Amino acid sequence: MALTAYDVLFAQLVEEAQMDLILIGDSLGQVVLGYSSTIPVTLDEMIHHGKAVRKGAPHSFLVLDMPFMSYQVSTEDALRNAGRVLKETGVQAVKLEGGSIATTRAAEALVRAGIPVMGHLGFTPQSVHALGGYRVQGREEASAERLRHQAIALEDAGCFAVVLELMPAALAEEISRSLTIPTIGIGAGPGCDGQILVLYDALGLNVGFQPKFLKKFGDLHSDARKALDAYVDEVRGGSYPAPEHTFSEKP
Ligand code: KIV
Repeated sequence: MALTAYDVLFAQLVEEAQMDLILIGDSLGQVVLGYSSTIPVTLDEMIHHGKAVRKGAPHSFLVLDMPFMSYQVSTEDALRNAGRVLKETGVQAVKLEGGSIATTRAAEALVRAGIPVMGHLGFTPQSVHALGGYRVQGREEASAERLRHQAIALEDAGCFAVVLELMPAALAEEISRSLTIPTIGIGAGPGCDGQILVLYDALGLNVGFQPKFLKKFGDLHSDARKALDAYVDEVRGGSYPAPEHTFSEKP
């Protein structure tokens, strides 16, 4: 079972909930930095948040997303950038998106260099433009077949797990059964070995985002609004700060 985290306090909460894996996802581009996709996210931004999550979750197994164009240009680039990630953040592993030959080669080179790699197939957000938008992958036989082959290629490259995102449940289950490494699903049905969600989506903080697969396990947006409204009312009404919140001259 896995969730994302991006900062120290939420990382503490997620660690307390005993996740098998915490992902510092490049979804932080959207849910933390306000970009319209994950494409603008930089390696420095990922490292900045990776360090914070490590501080909040010192005992967890952390995986950090390599951002767009930090591993696609060459294996040398991938090695240099993933090496920086491990040295500077203290995470144990990185995640690469897609199953192209270049990505599979990069995964293989990282694994050979001692850097554990998690794969990511199906809807891969860094390729949103190439995939024609946010949509379920693998519905046509040709694309399902490509995903089956890519999953095996990533396992052969040495990946220790693969995220399967937005694909028919039957295909995700079939891929999961064909691999010896675990699959972690998001919008890929119950047949995966594990599940992952973006933390703020799962907590109900991201009000505008409601894809079919998403269950909101909390309603933090309304809880936070209630707390903020109470703060405004009490400060305006003069009931906060009360004597118990106020320092006197003598201790
Ligand atoms: O960036 C992210 O949060 C992810 C998960 C959705 C798997 O890649």
